Amino acid sequence: MANSKVNKGRRRFLIGATSVVGAAGTAAIATPFIMSLTPSARALAAGAPVEVNVSKIEEGQLIRVIWRGKPVWIVHRSKEMVEMLPSNDAKLKDPDSEVASQQPQFAQNEYRSIKPEYLVLVGICTHLGCSPTFRPELAPADLGADWKGGWYCPCHGSRFDLAGRVIKGSPAGKNLEVPPYYYKSDSTILVGEVKGVA
Ligand code: FES
Repeated sequence: MANSKVNKGRRRFLIGATSVVGAAGTAAIATPFIMSLTPSARALAAGAPVEVNVSKIEEGQLIRVIWRGKPVWIVHRSKEMVEMLPSNDAKLKDPDSEVASQQPQFAQNEYRSIKPEYLVLVGICTHLGCSPTFRPELAPADLGADWKGGWYCPCHGSRFDLAGRVIKGSPAGKNLEVPPYYYKSDSTILVGEVKGVA
């Protein structure tokens, strides 16, 4: 029912937009795509924050959303995944997240997140911008016996642990970026904003 209301509203908007194009003549025909977006879609394209219900993400699962045209990953880490993180420290370039540009201050901790179980990262390799592959499994044959889960970048072989921290020997120099976000409620995060700082 709510959908049909939205659709009717959208149809009215599109009819209105079409009339405007018609009235304005051919110069306006180049912009029908932008004109046909709903207000919320226009806001998203411009980089509005993205709301995500994290309670639906299963343990060990990664979901992707798009924020400002960039992929953002949200991972529900298991208790075992979180507990294993400190054991990676000696192998990392920046175990304590000292490069300030790579995370807001609230994520400069051992989990690189607000709640230990939910990790939020920009899914772009800090070497040359490829999108690394999620490899949460332990010791797969192609990544070696000491692999404890994380991301592998297929472009030039950078490796990141399950907090997005870059492993020594990778061409990437920095940890994966944590975007601004905050919890609107216990189960909902808003990606793109820090509480109180729009
Ligand atoms: S872009 Fe990821 S390793 Fe080069």
